[in-house]
Amino acid sequence: MQLPKTMISEEDIRKRVDELAAQISIDYADKDEIVLVGVLKGAFIFLADLSRRLSIPRHIEFIAVSSYEHGSTRSGAVRLVMDVRRSIEGKHVLIVEDIVDTGHTLHYLIDMLKSRNPASVKTCTLLHKEHKTEVDVEIDYLGFSIGDEWVVGYGLDYDEKDRTLPYIGMIDPSD
Ligand code: PRP
Repeated sequence: MQLPKTMISEEDIRKRVDELAAQISIDYADKDEIVLVGVLKGAFIFLADLSRRLSIPRHIEFIAVSSYEHGSTRSGAVRLVMDVRRSIEGKHVLIVEDIVDTGHTLHYLIDMLKSRNPASVKTCTLLHKEHKTEVDVEIDYLGFSIGDEWVVGYGLDYDEKDRTLPYIGMIDPSD
């Protein structure tokens, strides 16, 4: 079985996650705690690595959403499948995503979490497909901007395959 071609190596991911964690630790240094909200499933590996490199008090939560699909295309509508367990009222929230593609998922999550009166809501994503944007969202911490390639690994899947690859790989789904 052939492995997907490397787009971002393990080493480059590690360096970038270190940089992001250092920046987040500086930016939140005067806060009591940060609540990291990982978006399942894709963000589970990025969240695990990022959270362990922070030098500030943190609390981990997960949330799961699902996109409505019409055949093979997504409608842009998003629904909540699993909520965070603890109230975020008065908390500093950082949403952690593996990838922002059209922006619909992050847009939905920002709106929903902001409506719960947190102290702040910011966003962090490992990958961003800039020219796939359909709805603008503010990305406060970005790992890498990428093109329109189909990417897998480090939490991202193609039909549930390749999520646990240690690097970000590119595949051609028509192969
Ligand atoms: C991916 C990714 C984001 C979303 C981004 O999740 O993890 O949550 O798509 O897409 P958007 O910007 O177009 O809304 P996916 O639906 O593949 O689920 P998974 O994380 O469980 O694999």
